[in-house]
Amino acid sequence: MHPARRHLADDHARLERLSAELESALEGGDRSAVQEVWTRFEATLLSHLDAEERWLFPLLSGEHADEVKALRAAHARLRHLASEEGLAADLRTLRRETASELLAELRAHATREDETVYAWLEQLPEPGKLEQLLDALVRRAGGIVTG
Ligand SMILES: [Fe+2]
Ligand SMILES: [Fe+2]
Repeated sequence: MHPARRHLADDHARLERLSAELESALEGGDRSAVQEVWTRFEATLLSHLDAEERWLFPLLSGEHADEVKALRAAHARLRHLASEEGLAADLRTLRRETASELLAELRAHATREDETVYAWLEQLPEPGKLEQLLDALVRRAGGIVTG
């Protein structure tokens, strides 16, 4: 796997771990634990969506315009759900049922990306673009190369 793809896949794995943490905090019913996990989950999610929109999607929007358009629409939906949930978390009313809608959509979205844009990324005709993507992702992470 190219390090740029691994970097993005690691984000998905991190989001999956945070989703599981959030679900168990919600089950436990400790409101301040929910708030704490939510803050980390939301920051990780928004940073991931921004990175894909800024650096990944433009590489594929020429050849795969329809798929990229659909993924951008899914991002808008995820942001909308996250802002609603974020408000609920601030108000300490976040509920497992409402959070589960966001988490289910996020999981489906990540699976779809793994099978489409993440796979296509490695077949880009210009490998230099992949290096530029990796550079951008690494800079975002504060210079730490993961994987
Ligand atoms: Fe995405
Ligand atoms: Fe993603």
